[in-house]
Amino acid sequence: MGHTGAMDLLRADPLAQLRQRTSVKWRAYPDDVLPLFVAEMDYPLAEPVKRAMIRVIENSDVGYIGEVAALAEPFAAFADERWGWMIEPSNIRTTTDVSVAAVEALRQAISPGDGVIIMPPVYPPFFEYVTEAGGTVVEVPLLESGPADAVDAASSAQFWSIDLGGVEAALEAGARAILLCNPHNPLGLLHSSADLEALAALAFGFDAVVVSDEIHGPLAYEAADFTPFLSASEAARAVGITVTSASKGWNLAGAKCAMQIAQSDRTLAMLDALPDEVHMRTSQLGLHGSAAAFAEAVPWLDQAIAAIEASGQLLSELLASQLPGVVFRRPQASYLAWLDFRALGWGEDPSLVALESAKVALMSGPEFGSQGAGFARLNLACSPEVLTEAVGRLARVAREREARGAAPARSASAAVSQ
Ligand SMILES: Cc1ncc(COP(=O)(O)O)c(C=O)c1O
Repeated sequence: MGHTGAMDLLRADPLAQLRQRTSVKWRAYPDDVLPLFVAEMDYPLAEPVKRAMIRVIENSDVGYIGEVAALAEPFAAFADERWGWMIEPSNIRTTTDVSVAAVEALRQAISPGDGVIIMPPVYPPFFEYVTEAGGTVVEVPLLESGPADAVDAASSAQFWSIDLGGVEAALEAGARAILLCNPHNPLGLLHSSADLEALAALAFGFDAVVVSDEIHGPLAYEAADFTPFLSASEAARAVGITVTSASKGWNLAGAKCAMQIAQSDRTLAMLDALPDEVHMRTSQLGLHGSAAAFAEAVPWLDQAIAAIEASGQLLSELLASQLPGVVFRRPQASYLAWLDFRALGWGEDPSLVALESAKVALMSGPEFGSQGAGFARLNLACSPEVLTEAVGRLARVAREREARGAAPARSASAAVSQ
């Protein structure tokens, strides 16, 4: 794997210290619950990011947003260096967060009521982004094509892909935009450059717009395997708007700063048509923290990726030894583990059993779409101790339920093939 080996692993803050944090991860549940649900990491902030934000505070520089180049230039340099994606900094706009960036891009791309394609199982707010932007959700689920009996340790890329035929049919039926998740949450899937090129060609052919959410892009385990949508082809640049930020890669969600990027006259005109307020809602703290992330904290990012990959490896081992009924396909990016509990018989929403009986908070699978029934999402960006304790708690509950005869005895592969 790309970033492991000699790389130092980042260490998560100790639990007692984490419980001093006031973000939702640490305030949603009482202290007897291990919170592995929302996408926040347990690592301490990168030093350059901290210093940049402290500098903003020390200069009392917390006014309204001023210069965007402070972020646009380091991001463009990072994108070129890491992915070979060339961007003019003047093609980058900023706003509050990736959610706002996506909704406002979609609002420009569609007319009220237009269909917007999403690909479940997918990050639950995608359903809401579409309606917030005035559109109608058109589901084109990812294709699940992997061999049903190859389970643990196999990567997500072998199992899921974009249903290009389904996308074409939806565009033919009138959908006007595609909201792409690249890398795909919750699977940690990196869409192949061939799929992205084909998607761009379809969108171009139907004069549709692709809004590509690339918030997890910096966390690709192998940077070379990640294709930024706008780098996929000429057609992609013609139809695409990328929305991204430093907020997942460097754990800055609360600092509130994200980017919208366009590389054609048509899509730049959409960004230019946005009310100035969309840009003015960018946070100064977030902008300078994010700029430091892209410019100075790439070694930290690589250490975070190494720690996350090690965590994924540990999860595979823990599941194999203690919870072999749970299927986990290793992500190619980010710290989200999509777990198939169907063989355990924990019902439609296994996160309910996990919370009530094991005191482990996971994200509910069904919220990601109907394909998430029987699944839950676990956050790997925690210490090995917390992960080990969490799987231990889940395994204890599985044993107790089995002893009570609560779980139907079905093998993992039988469940996968459904
Ligand atoms: C795919 C994806 N998009 C957007 C977001 C939210 O981004 P923001 O906090 O910048 O709105 C997340 C958060 O986990 C995400 O996974």
